[in-house]
Amino acid sequence: MSFRQPATTETSSKKISKETLQNSLKIIHYVKPHKTLFFLGLIFLILSTITALLFPYLFPLLIDLAHQKKVHLIPFNGGHLINIYTRVELIKYITVLLIFQSIVSFGRLYLFAQTNERILANVRHDLYNKIISLPISFYEKNRIGELSSRITTDVIKLQDALSIDLAEFFRQILTLIGGIAILIFISPKMTLFILTIVPIVVILGFIFGKFIRRKSAEAQEAIANSNVVVEETFQNINIVKAYTNEWFESNRYYKKVQKVKAVFLRNAVYRGSFISFIIIIMFGVIALVLYKASGLLEAGVLGDAQLLQFIIFTVFIGGSIAGLGELYGKLMAAFGASDRIMQILNLPSETETKPISIHKLNGNIRFEDVHFNYPTRSDVDVLKGISFTVNKGEKVALVGASGVGKTTILQILMRFYNIQKGSVTIDGTSIYDMNVQQLRANTALVPQEVMLFGGTIKENILYGKLDATDEEIMMAAKKANALDFIQKFPEKFETVVGERGVKLSGGQRQRIAIARAILKDPAILFLDEATSALDAESEKLVQSALETLMEGRTTIVIAHRLSTIRHADKIIVLNQGKIAEEGNHHTLSAQQDGLYNYLLKLQYQLN
Ligand SMILES: Nc1ncnc2c1ncn2[C@@H]1O[C@H](COP(=O)(O)OP(=O)(O)O)[C@@H](O)[C@H]1O
Ligand SMILES: [Mg+2]
Repeated sequence: MSFRQPATTETSSKKISKETLQNSLKIIHYVKPHKTLFFLGLIFLILSTITALLFPYLFPLLIDLAHQKKVHLIPFNGGHLINIYTRVELIKYITVLLIFQSIVSFGRLYLFAQTNERILANVRHDLYNKIISLPISFYEKNRIGELSSRITTDVIKLQDALSIDLAEFFRQILTLIGGIAILIFISPKMTLFILTIVPIVVILGFIFGKFIRRKSAEAQEAIANSNVVVEETFQNINIVKAYTNEWFESNRYYKKVQKVKAVFLRNAVYRGSFISFIIIIMFGVIALVLYKASGLLEAGVLGDAQLLQFIIFTVFIGGSIAGLGELYGKLMAAFGASDRIMQILNLPSETETKPISIHKLNGNIRFEDVHFNYPTRSDVDVLKGISFTVNKGEKVALVGASGVGKTTILQILMRFYNIQKGSVTIDGTSIYDMNVQQLRANTALVPQEVMLFGGTIKENILYGKLDATDEEIMMAAKKANALDFIQKFPEKFETVVGERGVKLSGGQRQRIAIARAILKDPAILFLDEATSALDAESEKLVQSALETLMEGRTTIVIAHRLSTIRHADKIIVLNQGKIAEEGNHHTLSAQQDGLYNYLLKLQYQLN
């Protein structure tokens, strides 16, 4: 599952590749079901742009009418279709247009919102479904923060592109074409003059403006840098004070603040030059156009109203050229965002986001010469030929030094990773030939550190079986030795846990996890040092809850304290990626120079 180098977020300054463009355009697939609405919106957009262009054409005609000149609109058959004689008449036309314009503008906005929000809801949901369907290894290769930003920032970029930028792009293009057409209609000669000079000035201004924006981004970065010092020291204020390093931090901050000052002063020079540029070039051009045009006015080529029309449309054209430049950057960024979204959507899913009906396994596990290394560290062989069997209902313990690969064996059994060599079967079927969700539905893991979801206790237990009844939940909590402490909370099962709720102790969280596993009722159970982080008191409660949970299930237990696995049916001692010893407590402890015996003595000494 390879992941192309994502297109940069700041694509505005760089070109995007053909591959990025092609991939990003696959998003059109989401537009298709709503194409009728979309095209309707587009028609409304065209209508509202045309009417918007009519106003600056009509307003100056009031001047002609004030001078008692007749106004002729829409030439037809040698005459005119519309002849206007008074200002009142013209205002009536303008009023009708205004009403029309307001209706189509509303329609345009609403229709685009309808299509876009539908598209975005689908994209968001598909993206989320895809990401949670990807294998664990994907999460190890990509930072969680970046993944969630796909669903937030990238989708928002897409949203902006679809709801604002795309419409704006069409509008500016139409304005540009329409504006030029009207200018040519008024005075072809002046149009030629303007079209040679205005684009150059606007583009120069745009490039300068972009430079200024980049510089101000640098300034923001300098500020952010200085804030890092502030946050660090405030967060660790007790360390700062304990080491009497106030002067050191003060100096550190002083340097950052000086840097901010320097950056801002340099930017002031750029911004000052930008203003001078605007004054000299932009207003210079306007003065030049006005000078030329007034010459035509003097010569009687242009009328008062035409002059005004001319100026307004020149400003319009300048505005739309500048607007298009800015939109180009935004649309490129949207292509980049869409590409990143599509890259994820194109990855093969490991699981499906559909409810499944569970087929119960018996729980006969067999490892046969299993070799394994983690995909992120392919040079380190963690397992180098492991073979063992666990029969239905047996309790087998994995023992060995930290980092030897005990947890890895459980993760392989839950198919979080693929093995490189050998076979892993359950009830005689390779786990890689099973439906992965069927496999996982038949297993439960109680880890050392239980993380709960930030909901109620009830919701956390229900996670084991979403359709469990209140009675079942109660029974599970009871069997998990959790009922007592839950009922001591005023809100009982509705007590909110996690960040915004009650903080539960390690032993309490463990027992909620056990209740969850009891509800799930799996054929196969994994206990990964489930009691090793607990104090003696809660260890006793958790251990007895675990005994209940283990009854009648195939269990693989990883124990920190060897005393808890004395009665295991089988103990497997791992060393350097291989099985060093195998037997029960009785046979293994009899081997005087065995590894198990050595570990036993070590723990005995510690106690
Ligand atoms: N997700 C992972 N990616 C890469 N290496 C890992 C990963 N998880 C564990 N390892 C490495 O694999 C080896 C076995 O780890 P583990 O099975 O967790 O040991 P333990 O026997 O303590 O449970 C260790 O060297 C560990 O650093
Ligand atoms: Mg472990």
